[in-house]
Amino acid sequence: MKAAFIEAQGGPEQLFYGLMPDPVAGPGQVIVDIQAASVNGADWKVRNGSYSKITRFPYILGRDFSGVVAEVAPGVADFKVGDEVFGVCAAGQEGAYAEKIAIDAAILAPKPSRFSHMEMAAVALIGLTALVSVEDTLKLKRGETILIQGGAGGVGGFAVQVAKHLGARVIATASAANVDYVRGLGADQVIDYAKVDFTQAVSGCDAVFDTVGGDVATRSFAVLRPGGRAAFIASGGSAPASPRPDVQSLRPSVGRDRKHLTRIVELLEAGAVTVPEITPFHLTEAGMAHRVSEARHFRGKLVFHT
Ligand SMILES: NC(=O)c1ccc[n+]([C@@H]2O[C@H](COP(=O)([O-])OP(=O)(O)OC[C@H]3O[C@@H](n4cnc5c(N)ncnc54)[C@H](OP(=O)(O)O)[C@@H]3O)[C@@H](O)[C@H]2O)c1
Repeated sequence: MKAAFIEAQGGPEQLFYGLMPDPVAGPGQVIVDIQAASVNGADWKVRNGSYSKITRFPYILGRDFSGVVAEVAPGVADFKVGDEVFGVCAAGQEGAYAEKIAIDAAILAPKPSRFSHMEMAAVALIGLTALVSVEDTLKLKRGETILIQGGAGGVGGFAVQVAKHLGARVIATASAANVDYVRGLGADQVIDYAKVDFTQAVSGCDAVFDTVGGDVATRSFAVLRPGGRAAFIASGGSAPASPRPDVQSLRPSVGRDRKHLTRIVELLEAGAVTVPEITPFHLTEAGMAHRVSEARHFRGKLVFHT
């Protein structure tokens, strides 16, 4: 099969496109012919070594995808050859920047026919992350106010829509070029973070969801009401220490399961969320896509077709 892989950890120039051995399905697994795979923030962090050290090369990146079941191993009862599926690789694993992947059937979900492979690859990991963060971890309720840091990004944009669907008042941050885009996703108020200090413009929030990290994450505690809660996905494996004893600092635990993928489909089919703006690339352009992703100022999702 053809795939995009790294030969060493480092910059985007470490990404190559070429032939790799076909994957072999173990018990309970299927082989999926991948039609589309998306770029996530994690991909360039794995590539550049800021997540963990990789010891086996060549190494195929990529965490989420959509495609067609091509082989079914013993122990799989719920899919057959020809079924369209989408999913996210097992936690901490990669391999979606390829024409084929072997993956546990239990963490895949049927792809809805109304949405394309590009669209389902775009929403898999961001949808999973936003749902685990906003619904399961923050337990956002109708009538509450949430500040979402990074409303134009993949996870942030999906979270804006989920929070709105739950009946919350949504405030989001974005750069000037993306203010209208984020408003279009349903945010009640969008703060241009380059012009306005969000700690001066917002207070008394019930919840914060930070997808940006760094200084933005640590300053976010200031906007919470006493008893408020904040969830962080861009500050490493644990939540930042809270400078306030009266608020909660949470790190969502984003597992992989069919239940959350099915919830994404339910929300899409109900029109409660829409697919983010997609910028398409071919897998041969993986280095270029990583440069765009790593610069962190695009909107929506970057998606590969194979
Ligand atoms: N399982 C997990 O824990 C998990 C899962 C998925 C993602 N993540 C992490 O979550 C983070 C977000 O992922 P993603 O895929 O959504 O990222 P992304 O799509 O790459 O986010 C890029 C967005 O961030 C916005 N942004 C950059 N600086 C900002 C700032 N100072 N204030 C507000 N917005 C800013 C940019 O919008 P502007 O151009 O408007 O600035 C851009 O649209 C990444 O660090 C990723 O690794 C963790």
